[in-house]
Amino acid sequence: MLTPGVLQQDEALGRPSTPAPALGESGFGRDLLSALATRPRSISPKYFYDAVGSQLFDRICELPEYYPTRTELAVLERHVGEMAALAGPSAEIVEFGAGSLRKVRLLLQAFAAPARYVPIDISGDYLGEAATALRAEFPRLDVHPVAADYTQRLVLPPARGRRVGFFPGSTLGNFTPAEALEFLQRAGEVLRGGALLLGADLVKDPGLLHAAYNDAQGVTAAFNLNLLARANRELGTDFDLDQFAHYAFYNAPHRRIEMHLVSRERQSVRLGGKRFELEEGESLHTENSYKFTVDGLRALARRAGFRPGPVWTDPQRLFSVHWLHAPEGETL
Ligand code: AVI
Repeated sequence: MLTPGVLQQDEALGRPSTPAPALGESGFGRDLLSALATRPRSISPKYFYDAVGSQLFDRICELPEYYPTRTELAVLERHVGEMAALAGPSAEIVEFGAGSLRKVRLLLQAFAAPARYVPIDISGDYLGEAATALRAEFPRLDVHPVAADYTQRLVLPPARGRRVGFFPGSTLGNFTPAEALEFLQRAGEVLRGGALLLGADLVKDPGLLHAAYNDAQGVTAAFNLNLLARANRELGTDFDLDQFAHYAFYNAPHRRIEMHLVSRERQSVRLGGKRFELEEGESLHTENSYKFTVDGLRALARRAGFRPGPVWTDPQRLFSVHWLHAPEGETL
């Protein structure tokens, strides 16, 4: 069982080992400072994913309660032949986020002679490892990793074939609705004349959703609390992890899971030479995970300039995978 207590006992997880950098040098430092200085307090979920957080996320994907990963994989496995037919021969696969090799491997095996695989990820280290693994497995495949923030304007090498974007895992749900629209518009620009294969988690029984973000082993709690442990490691904060509770619930009117870290007592934390007070019960909002209806997702895609094509779901309609035709025109 993973508990906040266990996390804190582990020096590597919770204690600053190197002197804290100047806050101005770190996007995380700047964003945490503004999260602590503003109310209600909230910070981007992108800061979950340091090396420890990425490992915890991999463990979440294996949890019995966390249905999205295995359900999406099953949908991909079942329908990848249809996806390959839509992509046609010599497509260039552009993956936004280069997350799970297991998922893209399915496409690489099924698509007819893919012209190239272009994974885009902010973490150059992770990309390097992924590229090496895929080159060993697919010696004839041209793997061209791009280290970039795919939520910003993207410049890709000239296309080698009709581009098929791949954005699995319902990561779109971690954006605000405005960010999701903006991401899709930007993706549409680089995928012109091609398509986007997009995974989107569906609205469902709130009990199932609640369980997926409140697993019995406490891995999701450890993932959430790692944000504070990361701040202790990287920014020299003195968060006492035992004094924060993981709190995740389904906000039905907004169709989203919200994750928070709630202060168990009145306490203060040091950051950048200042101390910030947290009241008992006060929360730091760490993540939204929006859930979609099939029609809602298709309407959003249309607003971003895509023409929705086939949609595949599992028999229980837990998760959806969408083929979205990108706007017409020459690929950039
Ligand atoms: C990466 N993302 C789609 C996950 C989700 O379900 O929103 C992150 C996550 N947060 C808690 N569990 C998993």
